[in-house]
Amino acid sequence: MKRILTYGTFDLLHYGHIRLLKRAKELGDYLIVALSTDEFNAIKGKKAYHDYETRKKMLEAIRYVDLIIPENNWEQKRNDVIEYKVDTVVMGSDWENNENFECLKDICEVTYLPRTEGVSTTKIKKDLGLQEQENNVNQIPTPSK
Ligand code: CTP
Repeated sequence: MKRILTYGTFDLLHYGHIRLLKRAKELGDYLIVALSTDEFNAIKGKKAYHDYETRKKMLEAIRYVDLIIPENNWEQKRNDVIEYKVDTVVMGSDWENNENFECLKDICEVTYLPRTEGVSTTKIKKDLGLQEQENNVNQIPTPSK
């Protein structure tokens, strides 16, 4: 059985995520998603709209996903590959040549899949004005004189 592992936050689940997961699963038989925890996102300076448990439940409903594990830190990848007997780590092409994944090539395959154009969690937030609201949350409106 060929085991695939991918990493991500998968917030505001969208078509780009689904395509990535579908193609990742097609590379093997068993797909593991290492899902960024809220604490790890904070370390990365990122805040997901949905909390970890909600993002996990959404991923569990996707037929391509067999197992979800928490991604707690940058350093765990090597251990994940060994512990879960992973054959291939798959990421979107935005991670191409990134040393966090390149350094795994001595213990597994590392494959980058082309990103789906025109969609991302960041773009959805921006298009809906959520990004601006988050950024402006601490701005106290000054009364007009
Ligand atoms: N991904 C993709 N195509 C997209 C968006 C994401 O293939 N249009 C892939 C990423 O390359 C990654 C996985 O989906 O391998 C999870 O990405 P994630 O960062 O959680 O999603 P984004 O929508 O890119 O989120 P953000 O905008 O917050 O970075």
